[in-house]
Amino acid sequence: MVTVMAEAQAQAKVGIPNDLEPFWMPFTANRAFKKRPRLIVGAKDMHYIATDGRKLMDGSAGLWCTNAGHNRDPIVEAIRREAGTLDYAPVFQFAHPKAFELASRVAALAPGDLDHVFFCNSGSEAVDTALKIALAYHNVRGNGSRVRLIGRERGYHGVGFGGVAVGGIVNNRKQFGSLLAGVDHLSSTYNREKQAFTIGEPEWGAHLADDLDRRVALHDASTIAAVIVEPVAASTGVLPPPKGYLERLRAICDKHGILLIFDEVITGFGRLGHAFAAERYGVVPDMITFAKGITSGSVPMGGVVVRKGIYDAFMKGPEHVIELFHGYTYSAHPLACAAGLATLDVYRDEKLFERARKLESAWGQAAMGLKGLPNVLDIRVVGLTVGIDLASKPDAVGKRGMAALEMGFFEHDFMFRAIGDTLALSPPLIVTETQIGEIFDKLGKIIRAVA
Ligand SMILES: Cc1ncc(COP(=O)(O)O)c(C=O)c1O
Repeated sequence: MVTVMAEAQAQAKVGIPNDLEPFWMPFTANRAFKKRPRLIVGAKDMHYIATDGRKLMDGSAGLWCTNAGHNRDPIVEAIRREAGTLDYAPVFQFAHPKAFELASRVAALAPGDLDHVFFCNSGSEAVDTALKIALAYHNVRGNGSRVRLIGRERGYHGVGFGGVAVGGIVNNRKQFGSLLAGVDHLSSTYNREKQAFTIGEPEWGAHLADDLDRRVALHDASTIAAVIVEPVAASTGVLPPPKGYLERLRAICDKHGILLIFDEVITGFGRLGHAFAAERYGVVPDMITFAKGITSGSVPMGGVVVRKGIYDAFMKGPEHVIELFHGYTYSAHPLACAAGLATLDVYRDEKLFERARKLESAWGQAAMGLKGLPNVLDIRVVGLTVGIDLASKPDAVGKRGMAALEMGFFEHDFMFRAIGDTLALSPPLIVTETQIGEIFDKLGKIIRAVA
């Protein structure tokens, strides 16, 4: 720890780049950032280190991904070792042992008969892979008319054309043409009037799953391939599912032969106190997409876990023929597999999913302590996440949220997500009760200051 911090602090002194212009930053107001940059040069456990050597509390596990904490020794060592042993191996027509080992480990964590794993490199690729598998599955079974995909308003499924098409966030969609044809959306599960300041899953809203029946009545089940939802819609500002909603969605999918995909890119690997949200909610989907927490953010990796019946449907016909024409050069990259295996060991050995479950109540209570502060319109908590809606400034949506983020970084040594005027937090699962107190204390001060 001392050496990592010292190294990062030394680097901090020389780490300011001479030109910020060439890097076109993703999902960032480039001009504003480049006028007042927020640069990070190191990290360890619960903290980041800024260019001026300051240690900042990481309130959002990077981008909802460093669930085991930063630069954990066993993960760093595994990556180092693999880099010196097998830098790259193709997994088209060849393979390497760790790919199979990691697939077995992920399958063992998945519920029910979700027992085959397709690897890719990000959540966006995982989503597009799952959507393609859904279409191909119906195709190989002779149901080629099942081509429609159903997402949900306010859903976030990454930035590939498939993911954006099923996604439900207008700013992510409006500049990119017609996206995929044949996509429809369920309505969002959020209703502030009925659900505000709920800890955990709201009582109101299970009936919103019946929207799927209405989509079926409109399009006919014979044209629908799959429904994709995040069990908790996180990137839009943390919307936990109403009690009974996911069960109802499962039942309607079963009734109509529609595949149900849970996008667990954020909810996977402990965020909700379980390996997958599917386990928390007792609902077994047909596919689960994952990314982020699989390597605790250390090396890019994503994937899709599918039910046995889906995999088996492809394993027909002559054995020399490729069953699924899909894959990425870096699917199951050796460094990602090594990082994934080491990360799963950390989760298991330190019982981090259980830890998240035990901390959930303290986290939720602390979060609700912000109720009543200026501009706080709603607080939603589930697992180790929280979304806090602040009232927008008149005619300046997002400005208060951004002011809070900047104040956190520059004045309170604290990092979190601002999604418009919603503040979203999801700390590494190694967070302590004392640090939870520190996080909400800082947040309270920031919310007051941006009033
Ligand atoms: C539910 C969900 N799906 C997909 C993605 C996209 O993942 P990535 O940014 O790794 O492509 C995200 C990212 O936050 C996500 O939250």
